[in-house]
Amino acid sequence: MAPMRAIQITEESGPDSALALVELPEPEPSHMLTPGAGVVVEVHAAGVSFPELLQTRGEYQLKPPLPFVPGSEVAGIVLSASAGAQVSPGDRVAAFCALGGFAETAVAPEFFTFALPSELDFAQGAGLILNYHTAYFALAIRGRLQQGETVLVHGAAGGVGTAALQVAKALGARTIALVSTEAKRLVAEQAGAGETVLVSDTWRNEVKELSGGGVDVVLDPVGGDRFTDSLRSLREGGRVIVVGFTGGSIPEVRVNRLLLANTEIVGAGWGAYVMSKPDLNREVGAELARMVQEGFVAPIVGEHFPLERAGEALIAIDERRATGKIVLDVR
Ligand SMILES: NC(=O)c1ccc[n+]([C@@H]2O[C@H](COP(=O)([O-])OP(=O)(O)OC[C@H]3O[C@@H](n4cnc5c(N)ncnc54)[C@H](OP(=O)(O)O)[C@@H]3O)[C@@H](O)[C@H]2O)c1
Repeated sequence: MAPMRAIQITEESGPDSALALVELPEPEPSHMLTPGAGVVVEVHAAGVSFPELLQTRGEYQLKPPLPFVPGSEVAGIVLSASAGAQVSPGDRVAAFCALGGFAETAVAPEFFTFALPSELDFAQGAGLILNYHTAYFALAIRGRLQQGETVLVHGAAGGVGTAALQVAKALGARTIALVSTEAKRLVAEQAGAGETVLVSDTWRNEVKELSGGGVDVVLDPVGGDRFTDSLRSLREGGRVIVVGFTGGSIPEVRVNRLLLANTEIVGAGWGAYVMSKPDLNREVGAELARMVQEGFVAPIVGEHFPLERAGEALIAIDERRATGKIVLDVR
């Protein structure tokens, strides 16, 4: 088989030194989740996200033996599709491959491969699955978000954050975006935030005021020491949805707060939940395609890097400089 260019993680020494550009044989049409079957995709753009950064340090739960090709999602053109797939050779697709995306050819399970709506380019397609499926899963399924409710989104200029702003709006909710800088405020506005608030000692008061007494849902990919203030920002019946810990520390809470205020903390771990539920993936994919067509969902690509500069892309995430989705242009 013809060799392809790919990025491997060769050691767990961080984004400066862990990566190498290599030539590898093209992958077989088989995915670890669907052994012996898979959709083979000619990769045009690969999405870069937090898990890949963590993998350069050996800090992510998915820990294949070294060396391996990271890259959880791609957009490109189908080269071959397994039986039963809803896509065919030649189709433009977005695909979640979990690993192997930082390469010219990647393989994904058929239930994680979706027709790419004509409204979106390949770079946007590479930002469609991880963040938007997570946002939909966290808000609609785990968070039970209802039309007319108000959502506070932490890290709102980031990948999950911008996705959550758009999905919440598509679900009929009002959004408040919390961001750390003026530049990120602009990104949150571009993503359609209803209101924006800068992180400060008083952010909680501003959120309370803007929401008329408290929000219904907090979507939290950041964690850390803001967590108690997130709980205090809820109105009665409100939910904090735990999505990630980019702030570095895993918060601990005194659960009497939940009792006193009649509130909830809900965990939302997308990958583990949907991995064994092909029909749910298809349903969420269809909902998101509708949101794209209706103009609510359009992934925001913050920066492009060529494949060989994948390390710089991961450093941008590490240094908190990333906005929207960072994408590798593979072809
Ligand atoms: N639960 C799930 O199923 C699931 C799925 C996908 C992703 N995730 C997780 O969600 C988290 C967010 O992912 P993402 O792709 O949105 O990341 P991202 O684009 O880098 O955005 C993360 C945001 O976190 C904030 N932040 C606060 N402290 C930070 C720090 N010390 N370093 C970096 N960022 C910091 C930043 O916003 P400000 O500067 O405005 O504070 C940043 O914009 C990650 O932990 C990821 O693993 C979870």
